[in-house]
Amino acid sequence: MALAIISATLLLQPAMGISGAQTSFGTFEGNPVTLYTLKNKSGMTAKIMDFGATVVSISTKDRKGRFDDVALGFDTFDPYPTKSPYFGAIVGRIGNRIAKGKFTLDGKEYTLAVNNGENHLHGGKQGFDKRIWTVLTKPTAENPSITFQYVSADGEEGYPGALTVTVKYTVTPQNALKIDYAITTDARTIHNITNHTYFNLGGKSAKDILGHRLQIKATQMTPVDKGLIPTGKLRAVKGTPFDFRTPKGIGTRIGAKDEQLKFGGGYDHNFVLDGKAGSLRRAINVFEPRSGRTMEVWTTEPGVQLYTGNFLDGTLVGHGGKKYLHRGAFCLETQHYPDSINQKNFPSVVLNPGQTYKSTTIYKFGAR
Ligand code: GLA
Repeated sequence: MALAIISATLLLQPAMGISGAQTSFGTFEGNPVTLYTLKNKSGMTAKIMDFGATVVSISTKDRKGRFDDVALGFDTFDPYPTKSPYFGAIVGRIGNRIAKGKFTLDGKEYTLAVNNGENHLHGGKQGFDKRIWTVLTKPTAENPSITFQYVSADGEEGYPGALTVTVKYTVTPQNALKIDYAITTDARTIHNITNHTYFNLGGKSAKDILGHRLQIKATQMTPVDKGLIPTGKLRAVKGTPFDFRTPKGIGTRIGAKDEQLKFGGGYDHNFVLDGKAGSLRRAINVFEPRSGRTMEVWTTEPGVQLYTGNFLDGTLVGHGGKKYLHRGAFCLETQHYPDSINQKNFPSVVLNPGQTYKSTTIYKFGAR
């Protein structure tokens, strides 16, 4: 009897590995790629690789205590460099867009790769998501935390200044994935670094995310043009499909006749988070009714991009052979607003030598 219970429990908690485990996951440009397991005492697990400092999988409990996969990713390394739409990756040096790939800093004009229509997206051709990061500290059984560092050379992808980026992931005892960023530079430059995890709290058998209930504590958003570049205005969400100040189904108004939703093919927009940027505040609550899973997002960042997997179309096959369908996941990319360097009224993304930019985002999981 006891054995039966133990083996049933093991079946429900698929072999997610022990904290501190590391396995070789593949090679990139001849260099080894390693996958690390971070696991807390209650069994919440995140697997993270050094390529792109990418979150490959996250496993959390539902209301019955069953573990399942809540983040999109691939079971093998192969598709990551060429096919991944930034699944779980750290994006930068500038996450999100820069209009026409151009900006001026201290009187000098810089030209970046144009890789999204006529605009620059997520750091260019080979952004931080396609670099192998150095591991500064490895996870252990006692401390499910890993620290990565990447030094982006002066001129890489057209950006000025050598940028040193440290990203520390921790699976906390409170069942959160905590991400701490620290950024320094040797010359004036710009930065907007975020994590691009795709979530579906319904687990592996869930299809789209339209039934998730979402609350974003944002009174305003930044409306965009058809290339998803902000107009520079801050628009009140009141009376629009962007009003998530009280919990709403993601799918409730996604099909509304609304120019902004049309431009994004759904939600692909930056929300201006209420409260003081720089202070860690609970900005977002998500609830998935079928599994009961919840996720809180806490951040020090001024904004968040809600992206509802509008470009997913069932062609990518991820964990356990699952087809990632249209709107099969959502991202909540905590960030500075898109194209901030070209908008004088947006919070600054300029970093000076001698300064350390610190930022924290926490994805905290639960169930009810
Ligand atoms: C971000 C962008 C989207 C899309 C996804 C990845 O969320 O805003 O337009 O590029 O990344 O596909």
